[in-house]
Amino acid sequence: MRLEGKVAIITGAGGGLGRAVAERFANEGAKLVLVDLNEEAATQTIEVIKKITSDVHFVQANVTKKDEVKNFVNEAVDQFGRIDVFFNNAGIDAEVTATSTYDEEMFSRVMEVNTTGVFLGMKYVLQVMQEQGSGSIVNTASVHGTRGMLNRSAYVASKHAVVGLTKTAAVENAKQNIRVNAIAPATILTEITKRVARELNPDNPQEHFDIMKSLIPADRIGKPEEVANLVNFLASDEASFITGAIVPVDGGMTAAFYRAES
Ligand SMILES: NC(=O)c1ccc[n+]([C@@H]2O[C@H](COP(=O)([O-])OP(=O)(O)OC[C@H]3O[C@@H](n4cnc5c(N)ncnc54)[C@H](O)[C@@H]3O)[C@@H](O)[C@H]2O)c1
Repeated sequence: MRLEGKVAIITGAGGGLGRAVAERFANEGAKLVLVDLNEEAATQTIEVIKKITSDVHFVQANVTKKDEVKNFVNEAVDQFGRIDVFFNNAGIDAEVTATSTYDEEMFSRVMEVNTTGVFLGMKYVLQVMQEQGSGSIVNTASVHGTRGMLNRSAYVASKHAVVGLTKTAAVENAKQNIRVNAIAPATILTEITKRVARELNPDNPQEHFDIMKSLIPADRIGKPEEVANLVNFLASDEASFITGAIVPVDGGMTAAFYRAES
């Protein structure tokens, strides 16, 4: 088991990627602190995890609120004594419209959750990991953290910022045996992508998935378990010389200017 006895915090644990990673971490022997704003969604994840381990603790928190972030970090330490792994993953998508018409408040909200939330989580978890002299942080960026995308200015900007935060924290903490990496998934079938698809085309949400699929050389949408495989590896000691990396899990999407037809 790759994470035997390790303590891991997962934010956005009620969502598609958070749940898949929680399940994988539990199967790898980790003790889990699950964090989400949405208690109902998190409860569904806890039900899955309780079939694997009783070492699971839920903290309801909004990742944009400093005191709530400090609280879930403190609760992890109180409950399990340390923090070995942090999957800094909670995020939202919002309005899908051109930059010239993008709503200012919506822009700020997306930046607050996806960027400030990731920053706050790193800030307070790093303080604990620095005292321990070890730790592994995996931030959730996106293929949109390294490439532009029509009509998604806030999301794209927020995920580019996650890439910058990841590289900076990696450089700052490498000597202290703390690794900081980010994953860059393409479209994965979860609630966030279903919501975007419904917003873009309420009559035919499938059209969005067909368009995204057409941009992915592997010719398919990804599965949450495929993301969990990568997060598990980056979180584990097997990735001991990997830090500051932005690792795609995207069926070849960012390798291509366009999808090559065979
Ligand atoms: N699914 C994809 O295709 C995809 C691709 C690339 C990146 N991502 C990123 O992966 C992450 C997880 O997305 P997902 O696909 O699991 O989506 P999801 O909507 O299924 O899950 C997101 C979870 O985050 C929680 N959350 C939202 N705002 C929060 C806040 N302020 N405080 C605490 N929790 C909050 C939600 O309640 C939800 O449970 C996000 O950062 C997303 O941007 C997803």
